[in-house]
Amino acid sequence: MALEYKGTILNPIDRNTVEIIHNGFLEVDDSGRIANVGQDNDDNDLSQVIIPAFVDTHIHLPQFDVRGTFSGNELLPWLKTYIWPEEAKYSNTDHVTDVSKRFYDDLIRHGTLTAFIYGTVYEEATREMIDLMPIRGRVGKMIMDTNSPKALEEKTDEALKSVRKLCIDYDDRHIVTPRFAPSCTMDVMKGAAKIADDFDCYIQTHLSENEDEIAWVKKLFPNNKSYTDVYFQAGLLGPKTVVGHCVHCSDDELKILKQTGTKIAHCPTSNVALGSGTMPLDRIIEFDIPFALATDVGAGPKTSMLDVMRCFLDVHDSVNATPTSALYYATLAGAEILGYGNETGNFKKGKSADFLILDMQADKNKDADFIIRKLTHGSDYDTIVKKTFLKGVEQLIS
Ligand code: GUN
Ligand code: FE
Repeated sequence: MALEYKGTILNPIDRNTVEIIHNGFLEVDDSGRIANVGQDNDDNDLSQVIIPAFVDTHIHLPQFDVRGTFSGNELLPWLKTYIWPEEAKYSNTDHVTDVSKRFYDDLIRHGTLTAFIYGTVYEEATREMIDLMPIRGRVGKMIMDTNSPKALEEKTDEALKSVRKLCIDYDDRHIVTPRFAPSCTMDVMKGAAKIADDFDCYIQTHLSENEDEIAWVKKLFPNNKSYTDVYFQAGLLGPKTVVGHCVHCSDDELKILKQTGTKIAHCPTSNVALGSGTMPLDRIIEFDIPFALATDVGAGPKTSMLDVMRCFLDVHDSVNATPTSALYYATLAGAEILGYGNETGNFKKGKSADFLILDMQADKNKDADFIIRKLTHGSDYDTIVKKTFLKGVEQLIS
């Protein structure tokens, strides 16, 4: 039997458009798909707002317990002093199980039902993170074969062997994940690109986040034209690659990203926390490079995509940063760049019923921008999500 949910519906269409339906209803069929979206004649439930579930395009599971903790440091000292020692704890399987459960619970509680997730270098830990994943997405075993602490650094061949095994065993729930150029030899990056190609698998990595990081890449790869060129020469860029940050890319680098069809995960809360700078939003839109929002937990302090939307609106002084575009970049745009555009991200008939019921009074005289801004700037992110539905099934929040 089809089920119906009522409230004020916000349905993202593109970066300039969100359809708003006051007195709306959302009909979900027996297989958990959107059967119908429409408007009732009578006033129905004005006390709740219905939006698509969030998509987080870049988040680190093993940084969950230290999220936000070491903000104020810049990227490289933050990684070396705090993050890599934290990630080394994940050689212990009990620890992985404990944190993974709390991590996924927290994502669901905040309405994120699709994500691309960074794991750790440990193959067993990554398997556990994938086995426990209750949402849509992929988890990647970090590849680090140079310039890394002993506890995390692997031999090139062993790292690639693990990645290949994970591609075989987990197919579309695993993602090839070279951490970033300073942690990887050219050999391992080329090997990772070959495996991704063999299995038609997605790739994720970090690119051009911080000035000291960029200077380090220049020193490590003196023969490459740019940081982006390192990944290009390794064969890592393409339509199934998502690179995090791109705060300091030159026009030549953006041209490569555009030409290869590479996507960007934009992480404004992380960039503020580590003082990395501001992604050049207008230039990236001018270059027509597809991007979407991400928390980048643990540099980003919160798992809530509402917090990322708030920060996106606060840091960009641009006509391209509007409440409407923020909702699009936190939902449909994310689904599109991660390859789930036909499956989730908005309320198109036939898509999976992935949606949130928010505890919020929506005044019938207010437009979508007003309501979204109230969500981002005037709500409690920990309590606003009243119910979460994945594939039409309510997810119990503990
Ligand atoms: N660059 C390489 N590794 C990381 C990481 O874990 N977090 C962030 N923000 N940037 C990185
Ligand atoms: Fe990151």
